[in-house]
Amino acid sequence: MSFDFDVVFIGGGPGGYVGAIKSAKIGLKTACIDKRKTLGGTCLNVGCIPTKALLEITHKHYAVQDMLKSGLAKGNFEINFDEMMKKKEKIVSTLSSGIDGLFTKNKVKKFTGFAKIVAKNTIEIKDEDGSLQTITAKNIVIATGSQVTTIPSVPIDEEVIVSSTGALSLKKVPASMIVIGAGVIGLALGSVYARLGTKVDVIEFLDRTTPAMDLELSKEFERIMISQGINFKFNTKVLGAKKVKSGKAEVEIEGVKDSKKETLTADIVLCAIGRKPYIENLGIETLAIKTTDRGFIAIDKHFKTNVEGVYAIGDVIPGLMLAHKSEEEGVAVAEIIAGKYGHVNYDCIPSVIYTHPEVASVGKTEEELKSQGIEYKVGKFKFIANSRAKAVADDEGFVKILACKKTDKILGAHIIGRAAGDIIHEICVAMEFGGSAEDVARTCHAHPTLNEAIKEACMAVDKAQIHS
Ligand code: FAD
Ligand code: NAI
Repeated sequence: MSFDFDVVFIGGGPGGYVGAIKSAKIGLKTACIDKRKTLGGTCLNVGCIPTKALLEITHKHYAVQDMLKSGLAKGNFEINFDEMMKKKEKIVSTLSSGIDGLFTKNKVKKFTGFAKIVAKNTIEIKDEDGSLQTITAKNIVIATGSQVTTIPSVPIDEEVIVSSTGALSLKKVPASMIVIGAGVIGLALGSVYARLGTKVDVIEFLDRTTPAMDLELSKEFERIMISQGINFKFNTKVLGAKKVKSGKAEVEIEGVKDSKKETLTADIVLCAIGRKPYIENLGIETLAIKTTDRGFIAIDKHFKTNVEGVYAIGDVIPGLMLAHKSEEEGVAVAEIIAGKYGHVNYDCIPSVIYTHPEVASVGKTEEELKSQGIEYKVGKFKFIANSRAKAVADDEGFVKILACKKTDKILGAHIIGRAAGDIIHEICVAMEFGGSAEDVARTCHAHPTLNEAIKEACMAVDKAQIHS
């Protein structure tokens, strides 16, 4: 039987578009379908990129305010909120058209419309006018990503009660914001608005921020966020939220331990309690494609679903919901479909929170090592003793290296500090090569760099650090 395409990716996010380009580069006749006109998925349209654009501009704003306060700068300074939002939009559209260019260059056929699997090897695409088109593919890769998790009693209108999508496009700086969830989105977007002067209160069900993070890192992160003006209410659950006559929103909360109820009011409520797989109306029932009990597409180690010729990657499958993890899977699935060797090393996927300072982790946390009974050594080094961090007056945070007690192999790295998300990659590379703390400690690092703090932390694993 002949097909229109060797492989079709449903979803043009980091998983789907990267997988499509890789497939085409390998020589497969490839198409990619997205319901959005602009490629790049959640990441580019309403996720990683617009968030980073706002974080960068508001960080600069915060830095200038700091200079004014310390006397390093003089005069008046005010952010132009409308221009900031326009700049963010421009960044998004430039990058998205860049993917269109890559599709053209690599001969990936792009379809814009909602895709539904209607039979084996067959996809129906409905465009925004409602017209239908059917294509066939030898292989289908589901890369439909994720959507925001909602609380039924907190109805999102994307104006007053918003998800991350609405928070990225507010019309003005709110005087107050209640963030539900002290996770990655809550703290990144909470930071954006706190830097602009918004009073930010974060309501978290658990007793700490970012629950999956190494506890020591998470505690330092929390301390720094508080010092930047973000208020936390831990052990608190949200019972409901509603828009009230004043145009603001009321949020009813209850203490998890003491059941004490309270009603809070704010201009904006941001609901950021996690994301869930997006498989609505995709037609997975048609082929009886299996899902997990949490609604993710179930796959084997080679991204294959239970149906021959149907694969899934990215946020829609179990695992971390990160753009770079989706991209790795896109490349791997393309290679597998082409009969080559495709693999993702899940032990070595970095996670970064792009606040200031940044927070970056790779590998095991100390709590995981303890619970798995793995014997380890710890090496720590504070940025306050790093000359570059001192020279640029940005010396909060530390590097923490976890290495195997017997072999010295690096098992995890946890960094909070300026550019943590960039400098962690030397540890990712070391870990990919099965490197030890001593390997990194004995590698010459340029001076003065923030990476020297990583070298010192690796030296500290054997108590051999120089600068502390
Ligand atoms: P997606 O990017 O969600 O792409 C899926 C695409 O499929 C979408 O474009 C959707 O329109 C399309 N689609 C779905 N169903 C259909 C259908 N039936 N027919 C046609 N098209 C369909 N991750 C990071 O690594 N770093 C970050 O800094 C970061 N920041 C984030 C900030 C925010 C505010 C959010 C919300 C997320 C952030 N993420 C970040 C997570 C990251 O965006 C996701 O992990 C990533 O986008 C997942 O990629 P994906 O390709 O699996 O899915
Ligand atoms: P999250 O899982 O990071 O955090 C959600 C938080 O909400 C948790 O702390 C959780 O305990 C809390 N929570 C859950 N239900 C609650 C309730 N009813 N009341 C109060 N608190 C509640 O989810 P978030 O921030 O929405 O982000 C979703 C995903 O998007 C992340 O897991 C991540 O994969 C991805 N992302 C990645 C980024 C990055 O890499 N820099 C940035 C933003 C998002």
